[in-house]
Amino acid sequence: MTTVLLTGAAGYIGSHTWLALQAAGFSVVGLDDFSNSSPEVLERLRELGGRRPVFERASVTDAAALDAVFARHRIDAVVHFAAFKAVGESAAQPLAYYANNVGGLVGTCQAMQRHGVKTLVFSSSATVYGEPKYLPYDEAHPLSAMNVYGRTKLFGEQILRDLEASDPAWKIAWLRYFNPVGAHESGRIGEDPRGVPNNLMPYVTQVAVGRREFLQVFGGDYDTPDGTGVRDYLHVMDLAEGHVAALRYLLDHGASITTNLGTGQGTSVLQLVQAFERASGRPIPYRIVDRRPGDLPAFWADPTLARERLGWRTRRDLDAMCADSWRWQSANPQGYA
Ligand code: WQD
Repeated sequence: MTTVLLTGAAGYIGSHTWLALQAAGFSVVGLDDFSNSSPEVLERLRELGGRRPVFERASVTDAAALDAVFARHRIDAVVHFAAFKAVGESAAQPLAYYANNVGGLVGTCQAMQRHGVKTLVFSSSATVYGEPKYLPYDEAHPLSAMNVYGRTKLFGEQILRDLEASDPAWKIAWLRYFNPVGAHESGRIGEDPRGVPNNLMPYVTQVAVGRREFLQVFGGDYDTPDGTGVRDYLHVMDLAEGHVAALRYLLDHGASITTNLGTGQGTSVLQLVQAFERASGRPIPYRIVDRRPGDLPAFWADPTLARERLGWRTRRDLDAMCADSWRWQSANPQGYA
């Protein structure tokens, strides 16, 4: 049985990928330092997965801890999620972001190298495409970063390209996520950001459940169908299954790949709000306010390459994303607290 180490395994995308990998027959070892996640996730995964999760509490910046994990488990591949991801926070704390996101990636790869593990899935982001030269973004689109968080992902990608060039035994999947939303259909795990949510969907769900008074819509005068920002939202379980497909590709084809993971469809803020109201039956009061600095008006994915090379495409639509988000938040009004 192939054993996969997930760094950042207790996080939003990590926890959903954990379930998808188990369902696909992989053995999973989860690793997390709980700097941006809750230990309660492990209890939920035990309940959903039907077995006690194999878990190691450690930071990806702790080389000795990583060596101990590789010594304790026979790891065949790694999926690296562990990273801080708040764009605004990254501007205020660049060193923390570079130490954790870039330093943590380097440390994880060094531990892999010491233990002869050279199959890696890297959690990247559409943010590496920067200002759109054309849309939809395909994998050939020029790369640039518009903020510290984005630079940690761009530098991470380039570090891994140098690593692969230095040793072709490395098989790496660079996965460029668009906007993950939604939750596992059970409603037992989901997105639980700390403090005020930066991202749209968790803010909407917190308004719906009564934790926030109203949604601020950042800008109503963009050159988009209804003037509000357009993004490519994909269901987190589709994204999780994209990681299964990417791992299978690396293990079966023994070749690296860089690919978008998105639906190929753009959705505006107000379209998402309306879909959520339909799915939840709850009104989402909002006020249109100034644009958020650094936001792009619109972007979405060209999903062709993942379909052709990974045999993966998204299957869940916006209504399912909203219904599953609501099921999670209504059953867990305070998240995992
Ligand atoms: C989506 C749309 C906002 C909140 C960021 C990172 C990206 C990834 C996902 C980590 C935009 C609007 C939002 C709100 C709003 N993070 N909005 N009111 O900015 O596309 O991407 O998060 O991997 O790397 O850059 O996502 O959810 O913040 O915003 O109107 O309270 O919703 O203006 O149009 P974004 P988002």
